[in-house]
Amino acid sequence: MSEDMRELKIEAARAALGQVTDGMRLGIGTGSTAEEFVRLLAERVENGFSVIGVPTSERTARLCLELGVPLTTLDDTPALDLTIDGADEIGPGLSLVKGGGGALLREKIVAAASARMIVIADKSKMVETLGQFPLPIEVNAFGLRATVLAIEGVARELGLKGPLAIREKAGESFVTDGGHLIVDASFGRIPDPRALANALNAIPGVVEHGLFLDLADTAYIAGDGGVRAVGA
Ligand code: 5RP
Repeated sequence: MSEDMRELKIEAARAALGQVTDGMRLGIGTGSTAEEFVRLLAERVENGFSVIGVPTSERTARLCLELGVPLTTLDDTPALDLTIDGADEIGPGLSLVKGGGGALLREKIVAAASARMIVIADKSKMVETLGQFPLPIEVNAFGLRATVLAIEGVARELGLKGPLAIREKAGESFVTDGGHLIVDASFGRIPDPRALANALNAIPGVVEHGLFLDLADTAYIAGDGGVRAVGA
């Protein structure tokens, strides 16, 4: 990642930090932008700021523990004030594609348990139509081929142009924190995200998908010499 790109992520994260107040219960996202937020938050905590966070992945949990950000679980703290997370694409109405880091299931559970969600990103994530970034779909390993076939059936009708690929890491199937697999679906364009979300939700082997609709309230987008707040 170039230094410039990292600086944009830090700027977006800093803007989001401005919305965090003492005593808040936070959902803490996953990915390189969310990690910049964790680093800034940790500095505030070191200076006496009191927050408690629910991490959206084991990766984020490790960073928080390393930097001294206090953590809890959704079982102990089931209602959160604010979630701050990155995104792979940000479309109209703050519709999102997420899951590039493979954490979409916990990210969605945590966002849904939060009163507000703020997305932080550099301007390259803003798109007019979702789908250029392959849509991550988390699936149960049981019946994988049948599930992929079912996904293909609905996805072709709803705009899928490219392949469905089982995500790999270091030559092996990528396994999520929940023990599931990820199918990355190369749509190119997703003309009707809501119809696609509903259709994927109806497939039993699909655990969750990376379309986040009606979850984000604000996005802080860094670029062109500043940070812009975009509302849903
Ligand atoms: C992880 C995610 C991330 O928020 C998304 O991939 C963005 O990551 P980055 O900030 O590194 O670009 O959804 O599952």
